[in-house]
Amino acid sequence: MSSKITLSVFKADVGGFVGHGSVHPDMLKKAEDTLGQDGMDLLIDFFVTHVGDDINLVLTHREGVDAENIHTLVWNTFLKCTEVAKTLKMYGAGQDLLSHGFSGNIKGMGPGIAEMEFEERPSEPVIIFMADKTEPGAWNFPLYKIFADPFNTIGLVIDPKMHEGFSFEVLDLIEDKSVKFSCPEELYDLLIFLGASNRYVVRSVFTKNKEIAAVSSTQKMNQMAGRYVGKDDPVLIVRCQSGLPAVGEVLEPFANPHLVTGWMRGSHYGPIIPVSQKQAVPTRFDGPPRVIAMGFQLANGRLIGPQDLFADVAFDRAREKALEIADYIRQLGPFEPHRLPLDEMEYTTMPLVMERLKNRFK
Ligand code: 13P
Ligand code: 13P
Ligand code: MG
Ligand code: MG
Repeated sequence: MSSKITLSVFKADVGGFVGHGSVHPDMLKKAEDTLGQDGMDLLIDFFVTHVGDDINLVLTHREGVDAENIHTLVWNTFLKCTEVAKTLKMYGAGQDLLSHGFSGNIKGMGPGIAEMEFEERPSEPVIIFMADKTEPGAWNFPLYKIFADPFNTIGLVIDPKMHEGFSFEVLDLIEDKSVKFSCPEELYDLLIFLGASNRYVVRSVFTKNKEIAAVSSTQKMNQMAGRYVGKDDPVLIVRCQSGLPAVGEVLEPFANPHLVTGWMRGSHYGPIIPVSQKQAVPTRFDGPPRVIAMGFQLANGRLIGPQDLFADVAFDRAREKALEIADYIRQLGPFEPHRLPLDEMEYTTMPLVMERLKNRFK
């Protein structure tokens, strides 16, 4: 057992209520009861919430990253929620649990995972971002702004503890290889990859002293399953303050909603709306994509919170702007760039239509 704290966030869509919009309260209750009972000796604390149709489990413990007992507890929790979902005939019950041949680690099994282990500081503010109707590449733009853009994060300029910059670990989702960039020295090299957020995603960010600052979930389920099984709605953990970006610097990129992939049938570009947890129920065209930010202070691993950080009126205009962008881009209907390019859609009728029409091509 370690003196360090592990903060683990797991997410899975194990059944939508109604369609892909939300999670039934009985399923959330089942998650809470299961973690409370089966996790009693293992966990320091836990918090259960949902964004759209995804259940998010926030756990603290001392078992480290990738711990078999923690992953088993979470897998069993999602299985129990799936049973409830099946009884209530929720939509796509068990959608994110790819196989029942679980062998101790959830990686590659469907659910999204972000975990980090660290020595808890005298004060340890953390923010957990959770999104629905999008994918891990959605974090590239805000992570760049938070940790590398002085127009977003003034601390990079005026805080002596941050002036050195940060290192980004970027994962190539197709080759399954990662590469590290030291910033600001290698900013331009970093950006050629981060701009291609469907293929290259930020997996983690470190201080120059190798302290962990941020970790994202980087599962890509369509690749894992070899077929469409749902978008891999992502989570992100960011530690804040005292040599790391301030809470307000971490939230700031979301004041200007960027375009992400996902939305209806996982096949469209749309603006990501920062919302309160209560507003995290995507309806219009199954969206638009949305993100919540849950803030906690850790106290010896206890999760003090959450503060629902996007509930602030200061994000009202971001929401309005996102809705305007949604109105505009929806008018394009089945045309790119609202609809994704052919090779990035989660599913398509193209091969069928092509086969039927092949003799008409002259
Ligand atoms: P189905 O209605 O066939 O599940 O597809 C629509 C959808 O909701 C995509 O996830
Ligand atoms: P989820 O990935 O959130 O289940 O959404 C599926 C979808 O295609 C909605 O239209
Ligand atoms: Mg769903
Ligand atoms: Mg979802």
